[in-house]
Amino acid sequence: MGNLCVCMGGSAKCASASTPFQSKVNPRSSTSNSNSKASRRSSSGPEKPPQPAEAPTAAGEAQAVPPASLKSFSMADLRAATKNFGSTSYLGEGGFGCVYKGWIDETTLAPARPGATNAMMVAIKKLKKESFQGHREWLTEVTYLGDLHHENLVKLVGYCSDSDSNKLLVYEYMPRGSLENHLFRRGSQPPLPWSTRVSVAVDVARGLAFLHSRDVIFRDLKSSNVLLGPDHRAKLSDFGLARAGPTGGKTHVSTRVVGTRGYAAPEYVATGHLSAKSDVYGFGVVLLELMTGRRALDEARGVASELLVDWAMPMLQGERRKVIRVMDTRLGGQYPKRQAQDMAALALRCLQNDPKTRPSMADDVLPSLELLLQPTTAKSTSSSSTTTSSRSPAASATTPVHRGHRRQKA
Ligand SMILES: Nc1ncnc2c1ncn2[C@@H]1O[C@H](COP(=O)(O)OP(=O)(O)OP(=O)(O)O)[C@@H](O)[C@H]1O
Ligand SMILES: [Mg+2]
Repeated sequence: MGNLCVCMGGSAKCASASTPFQSKVNPRSSTSNSNSKASRRSSSGPEKPPQPAEAPTAAGEAQAVPPASLKSFSMADLRAATKNFGSTSYLGEGGFGCVYKGWIDETTLAPARPGATNAMMVAIKKLKKESFQGHREWLTEVTYLGDLHHENLVKLVGYCSDSDSNKLLVYEYMPRGSLENHLFRRGSQPPLPWSTRVSVAVDVARGLAFLHSRDVIFRDLKSSNVLLGPDHRAKLSDFGLARAGPTGGKTHVSTRVVGTRGYAAPEYVATGHLSAKSDVYGFGVVLLELMTGRRALDEARGVASELLVDWAMPMLQGERRKVIRVMDTRLGGQYPKRQAQDMAALALRCLQNDPKTRPSMADDVLPSLELLLQPTTAKSTSSSSTTTSSRSPAASATTPVHRGHRRQKA
């Protein structure tokens, strides 16, 4: 679930769901748009997902009916499935609560013994009870994920909402965990190879393109919300901040500002104007993370370059791009130089200051990335890699990126 990390200053994660985006710790975080009005967009056809309100009231929440396709679990079911939410079932914790692994029968969805025939593993997210906004995100997640199905979106199996205010979500289990862990956790596990990073980027682009085709803005794209399956196929998770895109020819919706510092688009932080192009900016940041192995926000890098965008941009722009200098050293040079240049050029376009000039996910970003998946017989420019690629349209993107954005949001 989105960490509701409205904190653009300080930590990229915040446990407090009620912290306004612009007021958290860092005095450089000043935005002017905390009072955007809640809006409800009515569904305009059977293809559209239900559109939850920006801020459902208690009454609205009571009226919301989760899709029938989702299983309604009791708390007793989920206790049984997770060994009473014991430490051996613990998977991790995000802004809104802990995640546990559990076992349920794949046919009846009843709690099952670990390893039993027909038992399947699930991930169960248990929201902290005290968070009203957590409840709002829970509702948004159930509403969207109950309706939207795609191979690059994590599958929601069911939910629990009981009279005791327990709110839980039951997802398919993603055995390789988050992209964030793979890119940044310095452990014994080998670094993700370049080819896997490219295919993860393609999967994420496919997930976003699908959402945008359904007029849904994800709003919380970041590497911790990209989960990996057994074969490293990637899926988007955490739809708590998702919302309906603009209608009637409008370019954006006005919202309160939520998201995660380091990933949020500058115009959104500055004005609360949200569009699909806000997701495109976040995607550009994830591309940089895949290339560099560096976090979107790392205060240890010092104020001037704590944001990955600020650190990487000077080396990626202009005639004399120095893509090699930003690349993850854990790759050991094992990547086609041309592919790295293409991905850098695409990231730059996604990170344009003006949202109108950012590429669209479906028409531009996805085809550009898919070209990187296709090996060709052309000779690679890399001295260290054997893989080659065709030249993608991304490589010809030379539009300069304006860098004045960070000052206003951070
Ligand atoms: N479906 C899943 N399958 C396997 N592990 C999961 C699943 N969902 C979440 N996890 C793991 O649980 C941990 C917490 O996830 P969670 O989404 O709550 O937090 P987060 O993404 O780190 O932060 P945020 O609150 O900002 O979303 C992560 O380590 C994640 O890898
Ligand atoms: Mg998450």
